[in-house]
Amino acid sequence: MEKNIVVLTGAGISAESGIPVFRSETGLWENHRVEDVCTPQGYQRDPELVRKFYDGMRLNLRKVRPNPAHLALTRLAENWKGGFTLVTQNIDNLHEQAGSRNVIHMHGELTKLRCYEALGGCGHVVETMAAQDPDEACPQCGKKLLRPHIVWFGEMPLDMDLINERLAVADLFISIGTSGVVYPAAGFVRIARQAGAATLEFNLEPSATKGYFDAGIYGPAGKTLPNFVDGLLRDGYDYLRGILRENSLL
Ligand code: APR
Repeated sequence: MEKNIVVLTGAGISAESGIPVFRSETGLWENHRVEDVCTPQGYQRDPELVRKFYDGMRLNLRKVRPNPAHLALTRLAENWKGGFTLVTQNIDNLHEQAGSRNVIHMHGELTKLRCYEALGGCGHVVETMAAQDPDEACPQCGKKLLRPHIVWFGEMPLDMDLINERLAVADLFISIGTSGVVYPAAGFVRIARQAGAATLEFNLEPSATKGYFDAGIYGPAGKTLPNFVDGLLRDGYDYLRGILRENSLL
């Protein structure tokens, strides 16, 4: 029978491409307090600061390149015979740069702006690779209410119905480079497990949700993931069973 794979990625998969992870020891994200640049309140207080913060990251996307972990997932998606769903918490476009299609960006995307509903906008989403022009009007409703299409703290993650549908029929759930402290993503492993999926994490070290994984593979994802994908595509579930046994956390 063909098996369904659901993959969840976090900041760790992009670390080897040079994009800093969120939870550094300083508690700052790219030298800013999370409350200032990752909340609706921060945006209300100082929209220019928030715009410039995301502009900087968006422009940086032109300089960063996908690493072997992103490329391995594209290879898996293209060659796996069963279902394949890639959910990311990352707002960068490295999965897309690696050739992945239909990526579910549950925390939004740097390459998009949205007409801000909470201020009276229409919710229309536009694509951009440039710095945001605050005077740009929404092409759909004409209001000047475009904001970064990022899910801030306190806002609802995107595409949750679709993600839950895929988790409910998952046979294998793989989490890569996420600390497992931000919900709802941190709860996906439990949902997949309840659905009967095998669960596997890739990280530098055991994550906060390690207790819900059948097995863990620890090391830089750019090294560990390509090997895993090669084995899985070569020997299928026989390979997976061996990996789960050898790296068992149970
Ligand atoms: N290979 C594998 N894992 C790695 C690597 C690597 N090369 N480098 C770092 N990691 C792991 C770290 O050990 C850590 O567990 O990646 C994880 C990164 O954790 P976070 O910085 O907390 O990122 P993430 O889990 O994606 O954060 C979730 O929090 O701030 C919000 O919205 C933001 O989407 C983000 C969410």
